[in-house]
Amino acid sequence: MSDSSLPRCPASDGTAPSRAPAQCQATAQPQPVVQSAGQAAMFIVMSISQHGNACDTVREALGGLPAILRSLNLRLPDAHLSCITGIGADAWPRLFPDLPAPAGLHPFRPLNGAKHQAPATPGDLFFHIRATRTDACFELAMRLRESLGDAVEPVDEVHGFRYMDARSMVGFVDGTENPQGDEAVEATLIGDEDPAYSGGSYVIVQKYLHDMAAWNALPVAEQEKVIGRTKYDDVEMADDVKPSNSHIALNVIEDENGEEMAILRANLPFGNPSRNEYGTFFIGYARNLGTIEQMLTNMFIGRPEGNYDRLLDYSTAVTGSAFFVPAESFLTEQLGDG
Ligand code: HEM
Repeated sequence: MSDSSLPRCPASDGTAPSRAPAQCQATAQPQPVVQSAGQAAMFIVMSISQHGNACDTVREALGGLPAILRSLNLRLPDAHLSCITGIGADAWPRLFPDLPAPAGLHPFRPLNGAKHQAPATPGDLFFHIRATRTDACFELAMRLRESLGDAVEPVDEVHGFRYMDARSMVGFVDGTENPQGDEAVEATLIGDEDPAYSGGSYVIVQKYLHDMAAWNALPVAEQEKVIGRTKYDDVEMADDVKPSNSHIALNVIEDENGEEMAILRANLPFGNPSRNEYGTFFIGYARNLGTIEQMLTNMFIGRPEGNYDRLLDYSTAVTGSAFFVPAESFLTEQLGDG
């Protein structure tokens, strides 16, 4: 897959490919979408208050974010701290009343399968904070919260952590088949299909809670059939043994030309053992929301209908929201830079 219309600016942590045409550097520096899930992350969803000048305060706070990041990264260079800002469909016209909405932006579409549901929950702003250390994420979140003042109300906050050798909460390695390098850029960053917002991306987030007692009661060989990969060494099952309702089988999707359509996931586990709460924070970036929505349809409704993802028998989606992630250069142009 190759698409010359795409921006190829390097991410701020240098992990994205370095093919960066001058035009891209001038017009569309993306936010650091293309990077790994990180060692520690905070996933924060907020609503914007209805009071008079809430949107002015939010715009000011978002404009000040790069300066806070610069200062913290100077002081904690090993933390590799980053923050991605997403904006929900209802918030867009409030924050940018003079600009058209990004072409593909719409609220999260809830799914009602015969057995499992993916609910839609509120969300005007989303912050995906990643670092190698929790304290760096926390410091940034605290400073950001201060600057947002009473302009926002909290919706959800999850603190994720890298678990063992990049395992998900259900004990399988998570992230293996993520696209890398140029393929990750092509999967996530908007190109000529929406020129005003090139370098932007879309993100869907969902908080899942696992029934760990039921999951752990399944023999490992059965768990492997649920995921479609081996547990210990993370090898994909052969097509003739991989069940059609396994997580992997339902999440490999192709376009009309038979090309595989990829998204970039940065899931992390989270939990609160004393409350017996164990979860996965799903976060998928894509240049087209439809790709993630197709995967969710396969999981919750089934492919074919009724053949739903068996992982859902052990995992309940409790939140669901969608956001547009503007290019960093767009935010700087619109909001200034600290
Ligand atoms: C309960 C939440 C979830 C858990 C614990 C989970 C876990 C996993 C694991 C262990 C893998 C295999 C390794 C890998 O390639 O990363 C995987 C693959 C994948 N998952 Fe998930 N996942 C979850 C939710 C989702 C959702 C909601 C989507 C899409 C909307 C999704 C899309 C994918 C895709 C595209 C792959 C790679 C398929 C391939 O190319 O082989 N996952 N997931």
